[in-house]
Amino acid sequence: MALWGGRFTQAADTRFKDFNDSLRFDYRLAVQDIVGSIAWSKALVTVNVLSSQEQQQLELALAELKASVEDNPKQILASDAEDIHSWVEQQLIAKVGDLGKKLHTGRSRNDQVATDLKLWCREQAEVLLSALEQLQQQMVKVAQAHQTTVLPGYTHLQRAQPVTFAHWCLAYVDMFERDHSRLKDAAARLNTCPLGSGALAGTAYPMDREQIAHNLGFSRATRNSLDSVSDRDHVLELMSVASISMLHLSRLAEDMIFYNSGEANFIELADTVTSGSSLMPQKKNPDALELIRGKTGRVYGSLAGMMMTVKALPLAYNKDMQEDKEGLFDALDTWFDCTVMAALCFDGIKVNAERTLEAAQQGYANATELADYLVAKGIPFREAHHIVGVAVVGAIEKGCALEALSLAELKAFSAVIEEDVYAILTIESCLAKRNALGGVAPEQVAFAIEQAQARLK
Ligand code: ARG
Repeated sequence: MALWGGRFTQAADTRFKDFNDSLRFDYRLAVQDIVGSIAWSKALVTVNVLSSQEQQQLELALAELKASVEDNPKQILASDAEDIHSWVEQQLIAKVGDLGKKLHTGRSRNDQVATDLKLWCREQAEVLLSALEQLQQQMVKVAQAHQTTVLPGYTHLQRAQPVTFAHWCLAYVDMFERDHSRLKDAAARLNTCPLGSGALAGTAYPMDREQIAHNLGFSRATRNSLDSVSDRDHVLELMSVASISMLHLSRLAEDMIFYNSGEANFIELADTVTSGSSLMPQKKNPDALELIRGKTGRVYGSLAGMMMTVKALPLAYNKDMQEDKEGLFDALDTWFDCTVMAALCFDGIKVNAERTLEAAQQGYANATELADYLVAKGIPFREAHHIVGVAVVGAIEKGCALEALSLAELKAFSAVIEEDVYAILTIESCLAKRNALGGVAPEQVAFAIEQAQARLK
């Protein structure tokens, strides 16, 4: 039985019903719908629609239903109810009879679905915040273990200056911390309660909406009934936060796919997050990381889709808005899965420190050091830059590193170069010199780890 049969003499075309029904995806809002219904039943007591005793009876039945769907949410899918709101009402009527028919007094599915979805978003935000924290914790742990592991740092995918594996990890920790902060902001902003806004103009029962909001753990009631039932900013915001975080995850994945490649050979991923090839027995593919990179696309797709759906949509509720859920569910599920998977990829990771050191030593990554050295000896930087460029060409011709050139050879590029240049050209010196806040010097990285740990406590 649909919720709205009275005005109709013909049954819905089954093809229309299939097209229109949302139960197959909004069944995920069952618990939220029940919790919202309990709050609504309490509000109905305050306006004398329900007696306290009737309310208790409804609440008991709703609590039973909640326990049952928590135990087995998929049971809902066996029903042909139009949506989760209809399903809950049907179940309630089956349990308590005609009393169940009183619950929808003064309420619309428009304020109901807006409330359910916000409750769901709020819970999901908590789950995601904790996943982001775990990923950060994991990466700080890896950073701690790899403070002395030298890694070539790149610009333009060319070896630029040496960094450490720890420093690289901490770069991502900062990105995920910003995602965490964005998500917290979004969660705080969405925490307002639309219930009691009716279909669009407000409920005709003089209830205390702040009290309802309070009962449901919202920070306050929404202000305008038209906006309350039309607003899907929270859906868009969560998907934008997810998109930015997926962007970070995709960069992490891409870095690691490259590090894991036979060409780089910087890291080896554990067997637990890689798969083999059906044809080529030697292969161990970074599937988890490739999927993270690939799934980034569908999250952006959901955001773009919802932007288009809401664009130019007239006030107030329109059925278009039912399109909010599948994209949101998929985007947040995907974001969660990828965050967990990224953390898992660091379990049992092997960093080939000999190889990363060797790579950092190649590629003239200490050329800047030589230029700074010349500057210290009184040569203007622009000139020093040129001298070192010429020296690099000389070393390339000889097929060796800068520090492998003899003093006499180096002096040919600039007479000011002395024996003390060799100490400057070591990786240790390159790293240690970058000791301003945020730099790669061991002291700074140790400080950064300490700070990250304190923030994550
Ligand atoms: N299934 C609907 C949705 O997800 C619930 C609200 C229905 N409201 C309405 N006026 N038909 O948006």
